[in-house]
Parts: sequence; structure tokens; C-alpha cells
Amino acid sequence: MNKLSVDHLLGIKSLNENDISLIFKTASHFKEVINRPIKKVPTLRDITIANLFFENSTRTKISFELAEKRLGADIINFSSSSSSVNKGESLIDTVNNILAMKVDMIVLRHPNPGSSLLLSQQTNSCIINAGDGAHEHPTQALLDSFSLYENLKDLNGKNILIVGDIIHSRVALSNIYALNLLGANVKLSCPLSLLPKDIEKLNVTIETDVVKALKWCDAVNVLRVQRERMLKSYFPDNREYSMLFGLDVNKLNKIKKDILILHPGPINRGVEITSDIVESNNSLILDQVENGVAIRMAIIYLLASKMNFQLTNNEII
Ligand code: CP
Repeated sequence: MNKLSVDHLLGIKSLNENDISLIFKTASHFKEVINRPIKKVPTLRDITIANLFFENSTRTKISFELAEKRLGADIINFSSSSSSVNKGESLIDTVNNILAMKVDMIVLRHPNPGSSLLLSQQTNSCIINAGDGAHEHPTQALLDSFSLYENLKDLNGKNILIVGDIIHSRVALSNIYALNLLGANVKLSCPLSLLPKDIEKLNVTIETDVVKALKWCDAVNVLRVQRERMLKSYFPDNREYSMLFGLDVNKLNKIKKDILILHPGPINRGVEITSDIVESNNSLILDQVENGVAIRMAIIYLLASKMNFQLTNNEII
């Protein structure tokens, strides 16, 4: 199959194994393109994409913008702080007005879970979810899994640990769906106060002893403690959190083996991970960022192909 099964990217939950394998194959081609001296192809020359960010972002916003530019698309960047949203305009009205200006595709980051789904149902556009509240962050999970796939090859049967603030994390949920589709074994480690109710139903196991969990895994994805989403206190203080769940040399020395280290960013250095681990040889953190551009190029290209756009090159060049 060389077409995605979906018309929007709302979450990993709506993808299948073929979709992921097509996205990885396409991203590998685009990774080669963005490492050429001329990093651009004219494939999406006739497409206009609006990046709507209602929440702060560094990596995802810049990565989408670069992916779109590398594909030759026209782009519009919208930031809620300087828009008529502040005068009370609704999300749907805002998007319909942007679409009336002949925009073809919307990339949306929004604090409300389900906002991308809502736009896909209420507007006539292709929607890419760039993170909706604590629900899903599909492109992050795809770039995380792609970075693992590049290093571990087949993820089937591999042991992947996710450590940290699971309850507030859209990255965790999207990663769990993606890793399940790829056949990996997924374990979660965090204080029980940061574990969502019934999460075991998603085919994951729980281990609160983080050293034991690290001994088990081939790779660990360390999540940021999302203080901005915490309306109450989930653990006594950062010092205690780091001592019990923070990734540091002490804990890694105890496991006596090499594991791959991922973090979606932004990083709270010294809280969930120490600087020496961020910068260690086993850290894939900047590879993840590089792969983000190729993954987002692949998603945009594959969704545009489904929209029956006359792509400048049907073959990726
Ligand atoms: N990983 C991630 O989504 O980072 P940003 O919030 O900076 O986009």
C-alpha cells in the first residue's frame, strides 16, 4: 500500500501498521533529501499550509515550518496571542476564515484534547494534530519510534520504557499506541500519582522501581515533568522526584548495560534527566529533532497525495 488509511493525522490511535511502515519509508527518503547540499524539493509547490499554534512550541513549530519549506509549500504562521481569538472568535470560525483564503492544510497545536478531531469534522480541510492537550502528539511519537527503528531496526519484541509524567503526557499516549503497533513491549515507570487510571488496558506494564525497569529495557523515553499542567501537587518536590525517577549516572551505572536514551523536549535538566546523560553517546535526543523534519515531510506529503493534489513529482526526488 502506498497510501495512508486516513485523510487527517489526528492521532496514532487511528493509524495501522501499514501506515507506520509507509511513513517510515517515506521519511527515510526525505531524510536523505534534507542531508543534501540543496535540501529542498518542489513537490508541494502549489499547496498552502497554515500552522496554527494556540500553545507554546519550539521544536514542533519550527520542524513543521521547515518540513513545509523543504517540500516547497507556501506557509502561513498563526499565533493565537496576536490574533482575533483574543476578541472572542471561535476556533472553527478562525479556521474557516483562514480556509476561505485558499489554504489547503492545517497544522494545529491546541491546549484542548479533541480540538483536531473537531476541526476535521467541522471544517473542510486536511488537519494535522501537532499536540492537543494531554491527548495525543502523533508526529512526536512517529519521530520517536523512527529514531528507535533506525537504531534497533525491528522494534518487534524490543523492550521500551517510558519514564516520567505519564498522566499529563500526550507524548506517552501516542508513543504507547505507536509502540504497540510496532510490536514492542512497553513498560511505564513513574510515581503512582502520575499514572492515569486504567492505563494497563493499553497493553503496558508498570514498574515503580526505575532501576529494575531500566535493567529490563533496550531504550528509555524520558518525559518532562509538566508543571504547567499540574493543578495540584503530585509529588513532594523536584529533589525527591529526581532522586527516585530522574535519569542519572548513578542509576545507569547500576544496570551494567547500554540503553538508548530519548527525550521529546523541552528538557528540565536536573529534574527528569541530568545534563551528562542528555549529552552522552547513547542519547538520541538531537537525532529525534533531526528526524522530526523528515517525519513531518513524510506526513504532509502522504496526506497531500491523498487529497489528490497535482504533486509536482509523484516520485519523491
Ligand atoms: N516535543 C515538543 O512537542 O516540543 P515543543 O513543545 O517545543 O514543540
